[in-house]
Amino acid sequence: MANLRIKPNSVQETLVIPLYGRKLCAERFPTLYQDGSAAKACAQIDYDFSDLDRQAASPLWQFGALEAAMRQLDMQWEVRDYLASHPYAAVVNMGCGLDQTGRACDNGRCKLYNVDMPDVINMREQLFPTDWRETDIKSNLNDHAWMEQVDGLDGAVFFAAGVFHYLTTWQARTLACELARRFPGGRLVFDTIGRLGKLLMRRTFKSFGMENYRECLCVQDPRELKGWVSNVTVSSKGYMLGYHAMDDPAVTALHRFLARRCDGMLGMRVNRIDFPGTPDSRSSAAPREREA
Ligand SMILES: C[S@@+](CC[C@H](N)C(=O)[O-])C[C@H]1O[C@@H](n2cnc3c(N)ncnc32)[C@H](O)[C@@H]1O
Repeated sequence: MANLRIKPNSVQETLVIPLYGRKLCAERFPTLYQDGSAAKACAQIDYDFSDLDRQAASPLWQFGALEAAMRQLDMQWEVRDYLASHPYAAVVNMGCGLDQTGRACDNGRCKLYNVDMPDVINMREQLFPTDWRETDIKSNLNDHAWMEQVDGLDGAVFFAAGVFHYLTTWQARTLACELARRFPGGRLVFDTIGRLGKLLMRRTFKSFGMENYRECLCVQDPRELKGWVSNVTVSSKGYMLGYHAMDDPAVTALHRFLARRCDGMLGMRVNRIDFPGTPDSRSSAAPREREA
């Protein structure tokens, strides 16, 4: 299984925590969250999960699992909302890791894209082969040539879960500007942390070899995002409780307390930027329904 090996202490390794969190959340909080693909990927990749398995029963780790799942549910909400008015749009999972949010939102008409570093996409291709309506793109997000592969003529919604923390503020802003320029009427959704959240994450950044973490994006006040690109509409909601009420019998009072602190003190938010303009719609070229 050498080519399904996760390299320790790399940015690639960061995909393991949310993946494992989603698997754990689906096991512990099944009425809140379901994700068969996370269990499948965890079973197949070459990674030592023993540390994570040991901690899985602790309330704090279970809260961590809830964090991973709530973020994905938030992203799904935004993608489905966009697809309701742009059913043939491109749905682009930026820094996708081994996450299958695109497929969870598939309406049978949209086009799915997954973008990540080549080693991650190589692994993904073995675990989740794509069909004709889904495209994997091997690229650094900061090399904007990857955008040429995205067909956004019927609209485009881009989302990044747990990814913008690893970009510098300049890289994140440049990425948003370039998306807005190329995809009028598109939508960008990404999560951020505030200053305190970033301070608490500094050990995590260092353990993944990121010595430049001081330059990495943190957003204390989401209104600052309005200055990133001209004429955009920005909205921002709490990451844990902004979209969903965390309804599951296994969610405890401690979990709810921590959720409020994450959304408040740590400034964990899901931000949405709607680009001005309208996509250059062309219904005649709309893709067919996915064949059974
Ligand atoms: C914390 S993981 C999140 C993975 C996935 N979004 C999820 O929710 O499970 C961060 C992912 O972003 C990818 N990533 C980070 N910086 C990137 C960049 N500059 N270009 C492409 N991918 C990047 C990493 O390879 C990794 O797969």
